[in-house]
Amino acid sequence: MRKNIVAGNWKMNTTLPEGIKLAEEVNAALKGFSAKCDVVICVPFTHLASINNVIDKELLGLGAENCANHVKGAYTGEVSAPMVASTGATYVILGHSERRQYYGETSETLREKVRLALDNNLTPIFCVGEVLEERENGSYFEVVKCQLEEGLFNLSAEEFGKIILAYEPVWAIGTGKTATDDQAQEMHAFIRKTIEEKYGKEVAENTSILYGGSCKPSNAAALFAKPDVDGGLIGGAALEAESFMGIVKAF
Ligand code: 13P
Repeated sequence: MRKNIVAGNWKMNTTLPEGIKLAEEVNAALKGFSAKCDVVICVPFTHLASINNVIDKELLGLGAENCANHVKGAYTGEVSAPMVASTGATYVILGHSERRQYYGETSETLREKVRLALDNNLTPIFCVGEVLEERENGSYFEVVKCQLEEGLFNLSAEEFGKIILAYEPVWAIGTGKTATDDQAQEMHAFIRKTIEEKYGKEVAENTSILYGGSCKPSNAAALFAKPDVDGGLIGGAALEAESFMGIVKAF
């Protein structure tokens, strides 16, 4: 069966000491509590190795927010999947809308990144989602289907089984404007149906699909109660242990 997962995406926030403190707080909060979901934090590259040393990986998974589309070599400033894996991290966010939008990531690059992540035993948290204009002009199903097909549907069923998906409507990210639980459910059901058409019912049923976009303690329970919403990818509310744990406790 698919897993319920709450994953934090810290984005470009926290200095190293601040990040270590936050990770320690989340780890401590998880110690006294039996979470009904897997909990993961995806943090800046600079923090990975240090945070890996202060968390209990049985309680809290660790991931990067990106990785390079090359394995090694003359790519100044890039961080490869083997480098990420060597820190102890086991997850990597790929295809976040901020990477697509501000850094020109294309489906072609993303296919390379997904391949390298899987080759290095990193679990991709692969993001899809439409912008406001696409929501308003009604093309959002088509847009998300295209992101799935172009970014992931080259994988075998076995490989696809290792992917976690995150539906993040771009208009809901950092805006305070959450998709309603019905809007999230509608898209998650569509994503699952699209997976089923490509890989069959078993793979579709086993795929965790997280919702992301202004998810917070006050709306998480209603979102997670929807049958096709298997958890959340959390930005702003992951930057304080208390609010992040409030979302973890929504399961
Ligand atoms: P917010 O929770 O800050 O809206 O960010 C969501 C997100 O982009 C997670 O990847």
